[in-house]
This record gives sequence, structure tokens and C-alpha cells, in this order.
Amino acid sequence: MKVFINKIIPERGYRMLEEAGIAYTVWKEKPILDRGQAIQFCKGHDAFLSAGQSGMDADFFDQCRHLKVVALHSVGFDGVDIAAATKMGIPIGNTPNVLNKATAETALLLMLTVARRALYHHRRIKKGAWGIAKPTEGLGFDLAGKTLGIVGLGRIGAELAKICSRSWGMNILYYNRGRNDAAEKAYGARRVSLETLLQESDVVSVHTALTDETREMFGLEQFKQMKSSAIFINTARGGVHKEADLIKALDQKIIWGAGLDVTNPEPMQPDNPLLDMDNAVVFPHIGSATRETRDEMTRCAVENIIAGLKGEQIPYPVNP
Ligand code: DGY
Repeated sequence: MKVFINKIIPERGYRMLEEAGIAYTVWKEKPILDRGQAIQFCKGHDAFLSAGQSGMDADFFDQCRHLKVVALHSVGFDGVDIAAATKMGIPIGNTPNVLNKATAETALLLMLTVARRALYHHRRIKKGAWGIAKPTEGLGFDLAGKTLGIVGLGRIGAELAKICSRSWGMNILYYNRGRNDAAEKAYGARRVSLETLLQESDVVSVHTALTDETREMFGLEQFKQMKSSAIFINTARGGVHKEADLIKALDQKIIWGAGLDVTNPEPMQPDNPLLDMDNAVVFPHIGSATRETRDEMTRCAVENIIAGLKGEQIPYPVNP
């Protein structure tokens, strides 16, 4: 049994495979593989461990129908045609839960960076403009006691609600298809309409999956409903907001600021106007990029591979 791994993964993954007696091929080169090359590699293997492979559509699974399991090195699976894989009888696994804390911390980092204008101040020093501190200049705002509106109160959203309600005393509003009783009880979260959330929140943080329902759900109309002093944070998927509308909202001071860990497309090009704006902060999709989290993601992915190759139920399945 042989697994193809399309990017270098933490050491723990190779050790687990060796202990299970599974051979592997790792693509270690730059540039990363394109779709056609990934298919060719998959053809010579029984399983595929995929870290962000693009183009996993119906044709991909048709050409790779021999695969016994595909393990994604991510929790998100919006780029993968799950229905097509299911039709071919290929189990797809992901890495749920293990990145909740790291992603919530990334949202918090963006919130603090934007609220305290950290990047602006950093650039000011670089420009030789530290100058003399004045009581009314360069001010940000406190997060403590403010209202956080969480769009999509799933596992990651709930983690953010926990940190912000317990450590910062923030009031939590949420917009979600279903009620989250546990978060209401534990963090005093209040379920409201999207309109109310936008109007009342000082920070709006997005934690939804990218689906037909959430694609481009944030545009100028939504930004105009937010307070002009509010921050928009997206650590979910770049496709959830309309970038041109966000640039307009920031440029015209319709909202105070924005923090993004995800963009559309990725990678963002270096000449993107958001990168030069003092009220925007962009990270290159580092939500899960901590040593501990990537290690755990690898464990989940390899457990999926091992079970799939044994013909057992995989522990973290995505297929319905
Ligand atoms: C995930 O796991 O889905 C993160 O966004 C990293 O891709």
C-alpha cells in the first residue's frame, strides 16, 4: 500500500505511516504540483494525502477512482467535489476540531491589530515618523466590553466567543442557521438576525464554511449596515466577502477597519490595494499555522489514511 503526499508534512506523519507499514512518496519540490501532475502521481498510489491541492473535481475523481481514501490536510473542503468522490466510493477525510484554537487566536490577533492600529504604528516608525506622542493622535479602541458579532457559530466561532466573553468581557451576538444552546449558556451568546448583528457589533467576525449560501454574503450593502467604527474580520474563506466592496468600504471610511486571513484569490498579489491601507491587515492564510496545530492536523490526516487503506471506517469523514 502506497500513499502520495503532495507537500511536505510534519515528521510525525511519516513516523506514523512507517509504523503502520505504509510506503509513501512526498512531493518536496517547488513549484507545487498542478492538477494534472497530482493525478499522475495518484495513479501510481493507493491513497492521497492532500494539502491544498486545487482542481479536485468530478473529472479528478473519475481519473483517480482507484484511490481507497483521500485525506485532506485541512478542515475546509470547499475546493473538493465531495459528491463526485462519494459517487466513486472514495472516502474523504478532513481534520476537524484540532485547529479551532489556532484559528480563533488568529481572529483575535487580527481584531487587536486592527483595533489598536498596530500595523499603522509599525509603519510610522519605519518611515521615521515616531515623533512626539500626543494624547489625541494615533488612537485605537478597547475591545473590552464591546460587542462581537460572530457569523457562523460553529466550533471555531464558539472558541472565539469563549476567549472574548471570558477574557475581554465582550458581549456576543451570533448569526447562525441553527441555535447554539451551549454557547448561549456558556458565553451568554445571543442569536440575532444578520441585520441586527451588523448594526450592533463593534467587531464582525466571519466563521462560516464557503457554500452557495455564504458566497459573497458580505458586500457594500452589508458594510453600510455596520457601524462606521466597526471592524470586519474574515478567517474563514475569502469567497465570503466581495473584495472590491471591502476596499471601497475601507477607503470611504464606511467601516473603521478590516483584518483578513483569507482572500480571493489566494495568494493575494503584492500590488493589492488592501496591503497599502492603514486600516487593513492581511495575513497569508495562517489560521492553523502553529507547530502544535499542524502536528495534530497531520495526525488526523494520517489516521484517515491508515484506516482507509485497511478498508475501515475513517475517523474523520466528510462524505455524507
Ligand atoms: C482549513 O483547514 O480549512 C484551513 O483554512 C487551512 O486551509
